[in-house]
Amino acid sequence: MTEPFEPKLVTTDWNEEWKAMQAARKHPDDPTEWNARAKTFPTSHGPQSTYVDRFLQLAGIRPGETVFDMGCGTGALATPLAEAGHHVIAADFSSGMLEKMRAEQGRRGINPNLVRIVQMSWSDDWAAHGVTDGCADVAVASRSIATFDLKDSLLRLTRAARRRVCITLPCSVSPRIDARLLRAAGLQRRLGSDFVYAFNILAAEGVAPEVAYIPSKRYESFDSLAEAQDSLADIVRSAARNRVDAPELDRACERVRAWVADNLVENPRAGEVDHHGVEQKRYRLRESRQITWAFLAWDAQALD
Ligand SMILES: C[S@@+](CC[C@H](N)C(=O)[O-])C[C@H]1O[C@@H](n2cnc3c(N)ncnc32)[C@H](O)[C@@H]1O
Repeated sequence: MTEPFEPKLVTTDWNEEWKAMQAARKHPDDPTEWNARAKTFPTSHGPQSTYVDRFLQLAGIRPGETVFDMGCGTGALATPLAEAGHHVIAADFSSGMLEKMRAEQGRRGINPNLVRIVQMSWSDDWAAHGVTDGCADVAVASRSIATFDLKDSLLRLTRAARRRVCITLPCSVSPRIDARLLRAAGLQRRLGSDFVYAFNILAAEGVAPEVAYIPSKRYESFDSLAEAQDSLADIVRSAARNRVDAPELDRACERVRAWVADNLVENPRAGEVDHHGVEQKRYRLRESRQITWAFLAWDAQALD
């Protein structure tokens, strides 16, 4: 007689695996790190508009609907939504991000009554901050879920919404790492993909999320070959640490360094200011880094 077969899909606790991966991360989620990043975080559409426009198109927010934007950053979504007349609750744990968003909305003449800015973290008591169950028609979390307890975050977001929930997560272990780096490192099949955890956790809760993909491109520039090699090898190291053993990780990083040496070119835009307001350096990779974001959306009532 054949053994009964139980698919891993229903017998694995994906949130426990997610937690183990998060525990192995180099840095715990920390607002001071995000406050530092806020200084060069863009506030206007610019080159990011493809991502923002595609997100908003897929989100299908209806005229007059209210939106809760968790991890709003400098307002990539909250600002155009308020500009379009939506009431928005814009929440983030980084005061630096929120200040930048407030300043940008002031510059654009957005009615401050349309945006309720809330400084809170994914793990805070949301109700104590006035973010109660069903507080908005649509809840969104764009590129902002790096929490320890993914299931808790997904359920909180769902409870906050009356109609629809929309999130994006990377189709990789981190938006800092692209498929080329993983291939160069020889780790492309070893590290998994963040959005699959969200999909599987939701599926286990009986939710059937829609999935779409939003590609985006980025260039980083470097002063020297050594800086590029150190920086890109470090990205692989922090994404793979505690997932592959130390000697294999060292070999993977050496392969990345060799690949960078073959692919670093003079930056034709050196000296120009990028959309982060930072002057571009002398070298960059021949091809831009491709990041694919998975967009997941579901019915907020699906959990009831
Ligand atoms: C990559 S940015 C994305 C910002 C914006 N949603 C966008 O798509 O451009 C991630 C944001 O999530 C916020 N964030 C990260 N961890 C958080 C946490 N535990 N609680 C609240 N906000 C968090 C950061 O401060 C940052 O503003």
